[in-house]
Amino acid sequence: MMQNTNQENSPEKMQEKTSQISRWHHFETQDAINQATLNRILAAANESIASRGCFSIVLAGGSTPKNVYALLKDANANWANWHVYHNDDRCLPSDNSERNSLMARTTWLNHVSIPANQIHDIPAELGNIEGAKTYAKTLAGVPEFDLVLLGLGEDGHTASLFPNQPVDNSADAVPVFNAPKPPADRITVSQQRLNNTREVIFLVTGAGKQDAVNDWRNGVAIPATLISPKNGVDVYCFGVMF
Ligand code: 6PG
Repeated sequence: MMQNTNQENSPEKMQEKTSQISRWHHFETQDAINQATLNRILAAANESIASRGCFSIVLAGGSTPKNVYALLKDANANWANWHVYHNDDRCLPSDNSERNSLMARTTWLNHVSIPANQIHDIPAELGNIEGAKTYAKTLAGVPEFDLVLLGLGEDGHTASLFPNQPVDNSADAVPVFNAPKPPADRITVSQQRLNNTREVIFLVTGAGKQDAVNDWRNGVAIPATLISPKNGVDVYCFGVMF
């Protein structure tokens, strides 16, 4: 079921789609989507820490979330209670500028006081098979995530769940081969593990994502629709129309 928070939801607009419950939020400026995302993350952290004493967040890769991570660098938060994971990474050396974990560290994590043993990079430098096995051990015993951030590729992929590839739920983290978005070898948290979360925010910006958004909203089973946690997903959009 899909809901447009910025439009009146008459019955004919609320069509049954996949099992995914999606709530769509349209923002007029880049600053507005960045600030809304920051506010949502900090609110989730405050609630999780107040309720459970800790906050687990799974970071999106790619370029879209970088602006939000830069805002988090200057935010005031109970960093000692944060636990940071990644939803995917590229099989490249850990100091390669294309690594999602390096982007998060240089933009945000190196500048705040989250304990080092609470920042869990995916060891993608080990290669996709060994790295996935290692990360699956890291995730073993980690309870339901509090918040998962996800991006959207122009082909409808999310994390490293790509179109026309088998959905591997054999472990909490799995190897990806022949990814259409370089590099070919990646590691992704599995669909099933990503769904074990209280909240999901998709960050979708730029006209390049319009076709994927159109497909998504028209019921095409793009990989983003695989993400169907019990509380649904929120899709924050800027620069795409719906
Ligand atoms: C990656 C990401 C991937 C990304 C989308 C969107 O490693 O590339 O995990 O899923 O989120 O491709 O990328 P942009 O934000 O750069 O458009």
